[in-house]
Amino acid sequence: MTATVTSTSAQPARAGITFPDGFVWGAATASYQIEGAAREDGRGPSIWDTFSRTPGKVYAGHTGDVACDHYHRYVDDVALMADLGLASYRFSVAWPRVRPDGTGPVNLKGLDFYDRLTDELLGKGIDPVVTLYHWDLPQTLEDRGGWANRETAEAFGEYAEIVYRKLGDRVGTWTTLNEPWCSAYLGYGSGIHAPGVQDPAKALAAVHHLNLGHGLAAQALRAAGAQRVSITLNPCEVYPVDPENPADRDAARLIDGLANRIFFDPLLRGEYPADVLEHIARLTDLSYLKDGDLAIINQPLDVLGINFYNPAYVSAKPGAPGDKSYPGSEGIAFRPPVGPVTDMNWPIEPAALTRLLTRIHRDYPGTALMITENGAAFPDGPGPTGEVADVRRIDYVDGHLRACHDALAAGVDLRGYFLWSLMDNFEWAEGYAKRFGIVHVDYTTQQRVLKDSAKWYREVIRRNGLE
Ligand code: NOJ
Repeated sequence: MTATVTSTSAQPARAGITFPDGFVWGAATASYQIEGAAREDGRGPSIWDTFSRTPGKVYAGHTGDVACDHYHRYVDDVALMADLGLASYRFSVAWPRVRPDGTGPVNLKGLDFYDRLTDELLGKGIDPVVTLYHWDLPQTLEDRGGWANRETAEAFGEYAEIVYRKLGDRVGTWTTLNEPWCSAYLGYGSGIHAPGVQDPAKALAAVHHLNLGHGLAAQALRAAGAQRVSITLNPCEVYPVDPENPADRDAARLIDGLANRIFFDPLLRGEYPADVLEHIARLTDLSYLKDGDLAIINQPLDVLGINFYNPAYVSAKPGAPGDKSYPGSEGIAFRPPVGPVTDMNWPIEPAALTRLLTRIHRDYPGTALMITENGAAFPDGPGPTGEVADVRRIDYVDGHLRACHDALAAGVDLRGYFLWSLMDNFEWAEGYAKRFGIVHVDYTTQQRVLKDSAKWYREVIRRNGLE
């Protein structure tokens, strides 16, 4: 589905801004989205291998079998990162490379890949930021219930320690999970992501077991000596369509609870919010919630990763089907985007990022924040001269960097910004049809071409700000 895109490049000139010294400039990717080599060196199958092979689940039957072939091209890709001047690179480790069945024997060849990648990065002066789980769950664990099963959380804690033992002497920042919202609700609620289950009770059990898995992994990492422990969330800034209407405000509060507070509160306060518990108790018996779990989940965080793309607007509408990604959201309508959108049909509203960051700063004081993903899909490819003039991506990132700067000015402890993504890659259910990269990838030749946004970002990094 290609949405209409509106260029916003005709805006008035914007003032120059400078970021604080030491502000971290990076870019991000994830294992299944770029690595390929799906059957090499002992890697086991993941839920995304299974899901992408299931007819009708991923656009045009695309899979991550080859992706950007990064597994074989990582040396060139790291050279490209160095050319851009990245201070840091956020990548994920594929659990099924390290422990093909999720538990049991460790696959040293799989671990070795990340060892080589880490050394390559450090050799180029790029700080590696590791994400331990970016959605490629070993299929064997899914066969035993996946994230709806508590054992997956326990296996995740063990896996975290195994990876730490290999890379911990060189990697400072350890992110446990990427966007548990997606793993739980898209994986087990709407089923638009792997493993493709549609069961509200399982989605809610998955939320808790992801939170628990984070806690167990954080404990294991800390005990093994990790310097910085983190998790990346994708909070949804959700607004009532009519702020004057109490029913719309209640709808927004419910979605905020299911999307945001169900993760933030246990992680940072050691409790589930009362209104969220009351809501989900209507959908599940909560038997997955055991004594002591909340204390495990509530581990100190050195930095909290935030992925932000767009806000959402909701209203109360009796009879509306709701969204299966939010269990029990019947009677709530999600407003289609108004104004400019990206190729994902996501609205472009940078001011929502400032509001989000300032809200987190207010509600969870003392939390250091990092933008671990922000960016936009636009379809631009090479023109007649080979240049990729992706002005809309530049405009999107420019606007969101200014939003970050506004948050800093408001006192938010924001440490850095990782652009999503370094290169075009496998965009999950959308396959290769949506391009988020600042580097264009020709999937036939695997040729990489810097888009104009990459050259622009290089200048931003060099200046530590915007002109
Ligand atoms: C967030 C996810 O972490 C990433 O994998 C995905 O490609 C981007 N959003 C864009 O949808």
